[in-house]
Amino acid sequence: MKALKFASVSVFATVVLLIGTAAAQTDPGPRGGAPGAGGPLGSVTRNECVDKPPGNGIVTCDIQNFFTDAQMRFQEVDSVSGTIQGENGIGLGPRFNSRGCGLCHAQPATGGTSPSTNPQVTDANADGAQNTIPSFIMANGPVREARFPFFFDSDGNPNPNAPNGGVEDLFTITGRSDANGCAISQPSFALAQQTNNIIFRIPTPTFGGGLIENIDDSTLLANQAANANSLGIAGTFNHNGNDGTISRFGWKAQNKSLEMFAGEAYNVEQGVSNELFTQERPLPGEDQQSGLPANCRINPTPEDHTNFNLSTHPQPTTVDTPSDVVQFAMFMRLLAPPARSTSTPGGGTSIANGNSLFGSIGCSVCHTPSLRTAPSSFTTDLSNALANLFSDLEIHHMGTGLADNVSQGSAGGDQFRSAPLWGLGQRLFFIHDGRCNDLLCAIQAHQSSGSEANTVIANFNNLSSSQKQDVLNFLRSL
Ligand code: HEC
Ligand code: HEC
Repeated sequence: MKALKFASVSVFATVVLLIGTAAAQTDPGPRGGAPGAGGPLGSVTRNECVDKPPGNGIVTCDIQNFFTDAQMRFQEVDSVSGTIQGENGIGLGPRFNSRGCGLCHAQPATGGTSPSTNPQVTDANADGAQNTIPSFIMANGPVREARFPFFFDSDGNPNPNAPNGGVEDLFTITGRSDANGCAISQPSFALAQQTNNIIFRIPTPTFGGGLIENIDDSTLLANQAANANSLGIAGTFNHNGNDGTISRFGWKAQNKSLEMFAGEAYNVEQGVSNELFTQERPLPGEDQQSGLPANCRINPTPEDHTNFNLSTHPQPTTVDTPSDVVQFAMFMRLLAPPARSTSTPGGGTSIANGNSLFGSIGCSVCHTPSLRTAPSSFTTDLSNALANLFSDLEIHHMGTGLADNVSQGSAGGDQFRSAPLWGLGQRLFFIHDGRCNDLLCAIQAHQSSGSEANTVIANFNNLSSSQKQDVLNFLRSL
């Protein structure tokens, strides 16, 4: 009798527990299992290139070797002159944020985003470097780059009439064994934090980059027109200043192409001058001459360049000829888009429900599920392909809560590109500054005064708990 009573109590407790679990929808967290990203497009594995007209057929080519070489270069760690063992890349610094593309773009595979352990903590003092680690760089936090929205006046206060917004590199090579005695100091991040004059950006993933690059402007404009006047959403495009075409890479869609981004990242993030950005960069507002002592200009420029002399390479092949920048871009261009799951988390029915709710409440107005690419001259899988990117590549006003007061091209202080959501299932950090490590936080961050997403987020908040859970499961299936 006693035992029976005990059993019924425990059944009752279990029921309460189940109801409790169902009531609170939660981000299922990063999807386990294989990365499902980081490998090349299938047509690269099959060595298929697109023949030039008039043949216009599929031909066998050397594309796989280019991918393999490019991936190796993307993973390389730089030292100042390439003389430190295991750090063969040439040109680090004098200022930098990290020492290799693959260190920041690492999760869940090379090419992705911030890994769980921030490499910048090691970068700061590698090979004798004596950098102070700013308080916003944490071992278990996201990789971050910093910008100061405004220049400082001589009294140490930010001047709201003097917009800055350029990247302030975190570290210098000072103290490194290969630094040639170069002695320069870090910007004052503590002052910038005290005066609230600092914003952060975390890495965006590059999987499927070749598909994003090859969506024609007319396709983007047609998608914009199809979504016009919907739910108070009115996105615009960022444009490249000189040729006037739609730019699309980066948190504010500020950059035109993968090669442009690669050139800029090589100089800004790692301090490696190259054929697109030929001089070592001063910090924003800093004079080239006074800012950078002669003994800090250590290598001939540009540090990365086309390799004319293949005899200096151990096993010269044609893939050695292009510069790192060209090959970095090729790596990202040929990376396959992230693979989706149809069953985890939450099961196929929940994912399918979440997918349709994502459309019906209006998330998909900005996060356009797919757009078709134009014919590609590189390889078959980039041609007339569906890019399931979940972005319109437009910039939207996201309100006071997300505004970072940095303008880039025609993107103003509160405008951001609808973040492509493919690969979301395995990402650890969200929103441009990495403020969220949970999808509910990322969704709620859309809502603040002046945000185009307010109606849609209200729609999300009006869903039942199990419907919200379906949306979260769907997002983590991407
Ligand atoms: C210190 C970390 C760091 C390093 C090193 C780094 N990146 Fe990034 N990467 C970022 C951040 C942060 C962003 C987002 C910048 C923004 O939009 O403001 C980014 C964005 C990108 C994007 C844009 C992708 C998209 O669709 O938005 C590309 C392409 C890219 N990086 C390529 C590279 C390449 C190539 C290298 C090596 C030369 C590199 N990155 C090195 C941090 C890094
Ligand atoms: C008005 C356009 C718009 C709508 C509507 C919208 N989003 Fe977004 N979304 C954005 C923009 C822009 C960002 C990037 C914001 C930032 O980082 O500051 C973003 C970021 C995200 C992120 C974080 C991605 C990352 O890379 O960090 C998630 C997740 C997300 N959105 C999901 C949703 C869901 C779910 C809905 C519907 C409930 C939705 N969004 C509705 C524009 C929109």
